[in-house]
Amino acid sequence: PLTGIVHSAGLVADNYLIRKDPEELARVLAPKVRGLVNLDELSRDLPLRAFVCFSSITGAFGNAGQGDYAAANA
Ligand SMILES: NC(=O)c1ccc[n+]([C@@H]2O[C@H](COP(=O)([O-])OP(=O)(O)OC[C@H]3O[C@@H](n4cnc5c(N)ncnc54)[C@H](OP(=O)(O)O)[C@@H]3O)[C@@H](O)[C@H]2O)c1
Repeated sequence: PLTGIVHSAGLVADNYLIRKDPEELARVLAPKVRGLVNLDELSRDLPLRAFVCFSSITGAFGNAGQGDYAAANA
């Protein structure tokens, strides 16, 4: 059986918030938010020993031009 998952998908699209459009925001959030939820739900009944997720320090401290990426990682 599948016993481990490594979620490393992520995407940056640096842009100040004032220039962000909804499509870009959704694109950056997708792998980290929907991707993680999908993997979690689909593996619910599997005997996982590890579920490793790659976040970023940006999720804790923020970074100029990466508001969406920071939110996605947080
Ligand atoms: N590199 C760093 O300095 C750093 C620092 C902190 C955290 N991280 C995190 O560590 C992880 C790996 O970073 P990396 O630098 O190795 O990134 P990377 O080389 O850009 O690889 C990211 C991978 O995510 C895939 N991906 C993006 N959006 C996706 C989606 N919607 N669905 C499925 N796959 C998707 C990409 O696939 P395609 O190639 O097919 O687009 C790519 O293979 C990421 O989660 C990143 O946020 C990286």
